[in-house]
Amino acid sequence: MMRNIVAGNWKSNKSINDARDWVSVMDKDMESLPIDVKVMIAPPAPYLASLVSLSNSRLLFVSQQVSATQSGAYTGEFTAEMLVSCGVDYALIGHSERRASYGETDEVVCKKVRCSLDAGLGVVLCCGENLDKRDAGEQEQVIKDQLSSALDGVNALEMEDVIIAYEPIWAIGTGRTASAEQAASMHGFIREWLASRFDLNTASATSILYGGSCKPSNANEIFASEDVDGGLIGGASLNPEEFQEIIKAASSL
Ligand code: 13P
Repeated sequence: MMRNIVAGNWKSNKSINDARDWVSVMDKDMESLPIDVKVMIAPPAPYLASLVSLSNSRLLFVSQQVSATQSGAYTGEFTAEMLVSCGVDYALIGHSERRASYGETDEVVCKKVRCSLDAGLGVVLCCGENLDKRDAGEQEQVIKDQLSSALDGVNALEMEDVIIAYEPIWAIGTGRTASAEQAASMHGFIREWLASRFDLNTASATSILYGGSCKPSNANEIFASEDVDGGLIGGASLNPEEFQEIIKAASSL
C-alpha cells in the first residue's frame, strides 16, 4: 500500500511553454525522486491533453475542474469521460476557491464525485474550514459535513480512487500554515471518520494530503505525522526544484 502523494496545483498560472518546460524537467528528474511517492500535477485544463502526450514518466495528471453533468448542451463544461479520454488520471473537486467563487456547493461536489468515479477518473476531494470556524472550534464539524455530503453514495471499493486533501482556508496562499499539531489532529480525525463511515481497511488505505502554504521549509515537519500522507501544493509547485524538495520530504524511505 502506497499512501504517500505530492500533488501540485498550479491554479491559473503558467503559459503553455512554461508548462511544457516544467513537465520536461520533472520527467527527466523523476527517476531520481523517491519511488514511494506518487507525484501528480494539476495544470490549467487547456494544457492537459498536450502535457499528457508530452510526459514520458510516472507523473500523474489532475484536472483542476470537471463537470457535474454528463455530455450534452452545457457550454463551457467538460466531462469526466472527456478527461479520461485525454489520459487524465484525477480531478480536483471541492477546492475552497471553487466553493467560494464558482458555486461548487456540497451538492455539486457530490455530483462531480459521482460523475468522476463512474467514468473511471480518480478524485482528489478537498475540504477545509475558514478562520471563523477554526476560531470557534468548529473545524471538525465542518470537515465532517463536507466529507459526508461529498461522499454520499460512494462505497468502500470506490474509495480506492479517492484521495482526501485537507486545506484549511486560512492557510491557503497566506503563508500561514497549520501547525504540525493542527494538521496531525485533523488528519487523525478524518481517518477516524473514514473508519466509521466505511471500515478500518478503507481508512488506512486512503491518502490524506495537507494543503495550505506547504513548502520545502515546512514540509518535513508537517509530513512527520502518521496521518499526513503528503501534500497538495499551490505556490511551491510552480518551481520544479521546490516541488521536488517537497516530494523528497514525503518519502518514508
Ligand atoms: P498554497 O500552497 O499556495 O497555499 O495553495 C494551496 C492550495 O490551495 C493547493 O490546492
